[in-house]
Amino acid sequence: MLLTWKRALIACCVLGILGTVVLVSGVIPVNASSGHWQITRWLLNFASDRSVSFHSRGTKPPEDSGLMDARLGAEIYEINCRFCHGLPGQEQPPVAKGMTPTPPRLDRSLLEKKPRELHYIIQHGIKFAGMPAWPVPTRSDEIWPVVAYLQQALKENREDFDAERSDSDLAAVAALPVLQTCVDCHGVDGVSRAGKQVPHLTGQTEAYLRQSLLSFRSSERTSGVMMPVCHALTNQEIDALSKHYHKSASTNLPARLETEVADQAAVDRGRELAMNGDRGRKIPSCQKCHGPDAENRREEYPNLAGQSRWYLQQQLKLFEKRARGGAQTARLMHPIADKLSEQERSDLATFYASLPRPDERPEK
Ligand code: HEC
Ligand code: HEC
Ligand code: HEC
Repeated sequence: MLLTWKRALIACCVLGILGTVVLVSGVIPVNASSGHWQITRWLLNFASDRSVSFHSRGTKPPEDSGLMDARLGAEIYEINCRFCHGLPGQEQPPVAKGMTPTPPRLDRSLLEKKPRELHYIIQHGIKFAGMPAWPVPTRSDEIWPVVAYLQQALKENREDFDAERSDSDLAAVAALPVLQTCVDCHGVDGVSRAGKQVPHLTGQTEAYLRQSLLSFRSSERTSGVMMPVCHALTNQEIDALSKHYHKSASTNLPARLETEVADQAAVDRGRELAMNGDRGRKIPSCQKCHGPDAENRREEYPNLAGQSRWYLQQQLKLFEKRARGGAQTARLMHPIADKLSEQERSDLATFYASLPRPDERPEK
């Protein structure tokens, strides 16, 4: 008995030493181009499915992900995913087919995965498999629209989620071609065409628009959606786009995306805090910097009136987590955001969302 144990122990040691020699010698290939053996592939897939299912427990999709989210998701997919996977349900592009590991065609078998599992895969990527993680770890909120799009596109066998374009839209794009990159999400007039996560640009100053684009380009302000969009813009293009969206006035406004104010009590609480601040807790009045009718309004301070509730609340959360950069002055928001409770963030956002956007206000 003792003898067998000893033998087993010696065998283990020898195997261990052999293993180390093989590793150190460097003969094991790490080149991706040779692909995996069948058995390794199966094991990796199995382990990856189990891991995704385990680690995504507790992640909950936000309540309302509708058609607008799918539309935004479609635009994000176009920029961040299509060059590897092709459109959902269709063949991958030839370049991707030449890659090893080959990005898989995303087909209806994905519908068996839970939304939280898809979210997890897109957020974290897949180790040893060439699926990259979402570019900004703190912005997992931006992934839900992609999940909504993948599910709807595969379920309905549909690839087109675009908003309609009018003739005047086409003319504007012909005059400033780089606008083409923006219109599916922001419209030609700067009014969101892709739901609550996309801010309206109308009513912002040229200075604020410019500094926002510059800070996305330098990754000072992080967003897995806007960073890839801005990465290749030249200074001249940024100037032209800021001018365009500052001046843009809507003639053909889409219906308001959010049903008008649901909760009057929340609007009133939000208004009180926004107008007067809270001296005891050293919360300044928001209105002094942001308006409406701001006293200290500097060129670079953004307008909040008429922006979606979801967007405003999200930005406040990001300031608190120090995950929302911007220009130098963005730091002014940190101590303010730190003092707000979740309820107050929601009230303030509800109040500002209930105000008309600057372009919706009657001329004085
Ligand atoms: C650089 C190429 C590349 C990019 C960009 C990329 N992927 Fe992938 N993706 C892969 C590869 C390779 C795999 C295969 C992983 C494996 O074999 O387990 C994969 C796997 C997946 C899977 C799991 C598929 C399955 O059948 O289990 C999903 C879902 C997915 N990707 C979605 C996306 C989305 C959404 C984006 C954009 C946000 C994206 N991918 C961007 C390369 C890419
Ligand atoms: C795929 C959809 C999409 C496209 C395309 C897109 N944007 Fe955006 N944009 C967004 C989203 C989403 C945000 C909010 C980012 C965040 O949460 O930080 C945003 C934010 C912005 C902001 C900041 C607004 C604010 O109130 O702080 C500006 C300015 C902007 N985009 C301009 C542009 C311009 C100009 C283009 C074209 C070059 C463009 N965007 C293309 C989705 C898009
Ligand atoms: C001292 C001036 C100042 C005060 C007071 C102030 N802010 Fe701000 N706020 C800023 C600046 C500056 C930025 C944007 C900086 C950037 O992006 O570069 C900003 C950005 C924001 C944004 C993001 C807007 C967008 O389009 O992305 C929100 C939301 C916001 N503030 C809410 C509030 C609320 C709510 C209050 C009151 C509790 C408040 N702010 C008080 C200066 C101020």
